[in-house]
Amino acid sequence: LTGTRTALVTGGSGGIGRALAAAAARAGWTVFLGYRSNRQAAETAAASLRGSAGAIVPLSIPLDDAAGIDRALQRVADENADLEAVVLGASPAPAVASFLKSPPEAFRAQLEVNVVGNHRLLAGVWKRFFRPRSGGHVIAVSTTALGPPPTPHLASYTTAKAALLALLQAALAELGRAGLRVSVVSAGFTETAMLDAFPAALLEMARSRLPERRFLSSDEVASCLLGVLEAPPPAGQLAHHLVDRS
Ligand SMILES: NC(=O)c1ccc[n+]([C@@H]2O[C@H](COP(=O)([O-])OP(=O)(O)OC[C@H]3O[C@@H](n4cnc5c(N)ncnc54)[C@H](OP(=O)(O)O)[C@@H]3O)[C@@H](O)[C@H]2O)c1
Repeated sequence: LTGTRTALVTGGSGGIGRALAAAAARAGWTVFLGYRSNRQAAETAAASLRGSAGAIVPLSIPLDDAAGIDRALQRVADENADLEAVVLGASPAPAVASFLKSPPEAFRAQLEVNVVGNHRLLAGVWKRFFRPRSGGHVIAVSTTALGPPPTPHLASYTTAKAALLALLQAALAELGRAGLRVSVVSAGFTETAMLDAFPAALLEMARSRLPERRFLSSDEVASCLLGVLEAPPPAGQLAHHLVDRS
């Protein structure tokens, strides 16, 4: 894999991750496409992009399993990849619940992936890939639900995404001078399987407030992410991007 621009995309088996991987592979990137349970989606994406300028390599990377994260990074190293970017796209679907009824398991599940797993991933990526090449680019897929003010009934999800931002700022404070670059892309509602977690009536009401009564498509978010992937901010800086239809 030497000679191609290489990125790792977590949540690559999801709607936005797959669309980004396809766009990036067409633009010549080699993409390690991270999945947890949906291996089939990752393999189908890889097969459909065969023959494009770049490539997709399916990669099991369960972000709630420290040993699984380490194994995934070993696999990337075994391919002699010169990883220059990581896109943090994995997230459990939100638990849609009132603040008073939000279950503790929902907070644990979100924080386990968005904070604990991403911390282990980024520390490993820094040591194995970014430090030897004097830097690298981390892109987080975040949400306009963070507000301010945050969208109601998503406390565990928005809390975890806010914590992810704090995690990246902490990484930048220590590693920015050594070459870390961070981008955060905040997306509005996007038509993916994640929306299955929401009551249909709530989604219909949200769509009705938008031009053409539609949410973003995965391809629209992917196009923004690819632009960000190809134009990182200067070392030590955090760039915030918004992709929304409202
Ligand atoms: N859809 C929206 O409206 C929207 C809006 C703003 C931001 N976002 C953000 O965009 C990103 C992608 O979301 P999406 O809409 O594409 O959702 P999606 O289709 O539901 O995909 C979610 C992805 O996260 C992965 N994942 C979940 N738990 C994981 C774990 N424990 N370890 C590793 N991977 C895990 C899933 O992998 P498997 O399926 O293989 O298990 C899947 O690839 C997320 O960070 C989400 O918060 C979404």
